[in-house]
Amino acid sequence: MVQHTILQVGALPPAAEGQLHEEFSVLRIPEKGWEAVVAEHGQQRSVAVTSSMVGVSGALIKALPNLRAVVNFGVGYDTTDVEIAQELGVQVSNTPDVLTDCVADLAVGLMIDTARSISASDRFVRRGEWPQGQYPLGQRISGKRVGIVGMGRIGRSIAKRLEAFGCSIAYHCRRRVDTLTYPWCESLIDLATHSDFLVVAVAGGPATAGLISGEVLRALGAEGHLINIARGSVVDEIALVDALIHQQIAGAGLDVFTHEPHVPKALFELDNVVLTPHIGSATAETRQDMASLFFDNLRQFIASGTLKTPVS
Ligand code: DGY
Repeated sequence: MVQHTILQVGALPPAAEGQLHEEFSVLRIPEKGWEAVVAEHGQQRSVAVTSSMVGVSGALIKALPNLRAVVNFGVGYDTTDVEIAQELGVQVSNTPDVLTDCVADLAVGLMIDTARSISASDRFVRRGEWPQGQYPLGQRISGKRVGIVGMGRIGRSIAKRLEAFGCSIAYHCRRRVDTLTYPWCESLIDLATHSDFLVVAVAGGPATAGLISGEVLRALGAEGHLINIARGSVVDEIALVDALIHQQIAGAGLDVFTHEPHVPKALFELDNVVLTPHIGSATAETRQDMASLFFDNLRQFIASGTLKTPVS
């Protein structure tokens, strides 16, 4: 076993953070203004631990010449500069699979809430408005056309659930997936045009930044709903707010935002939007499974210099 310093970049969920500090001696690297700590300890052979929310920047990776691995709590690793890491021989792991079901469940929950106004009609009841009249009609989910953007593990899990609702599924991603029978739409605009619900399940990062543009939202149209459980960066948030305010789309269910934890205030007033605070994987069971996989990666790396679930 080779001696490594464990560098913690950003907070981890409390239970995982507690376990980390119990099991290892950990040096905390501030997210901003890390230069002084790095100048003092940066030469040591190290493993960085972080979460999808924070990640390890290219500048920090470069400043740690003996960094050997980044062990990420979360499936998304768009906040870590994987390109620089790979260039410099730093291995990176994430926590795939264990959160797929919970994120897919939330996507379907947001679809139902958005179309059937569960949260908005709950507010209506609590405001005491029911005696004054019926709540406006919602839209049916069953049998609708769903376009899924990104057909990885989470996209497929969403599709599987929606099959049970009798929805017709089509998808867009870079290449057709040969093992799937759902229609592949090479053009995202075509997919949006022919969808009642457009569900974003693609990885974040530079390759997908702003993919859901104003043009895509216009193609989705006034009867269409957008669901985003992926990353805020994938959607042009200014265009989305505008489309919602001007009812160019019917509604949206959003778990992720461009500048989390900040959400555009204009959305607070709108009853056609459901807002959740990035809770896709936030169940006790899934967070426990993520923590186990995170620690498996960390322990395995320290023992053998390999990761259990490296990102490719
Ligand atoms: C992830 O793991 O990337 C999720 O977005 C965190 O909930």
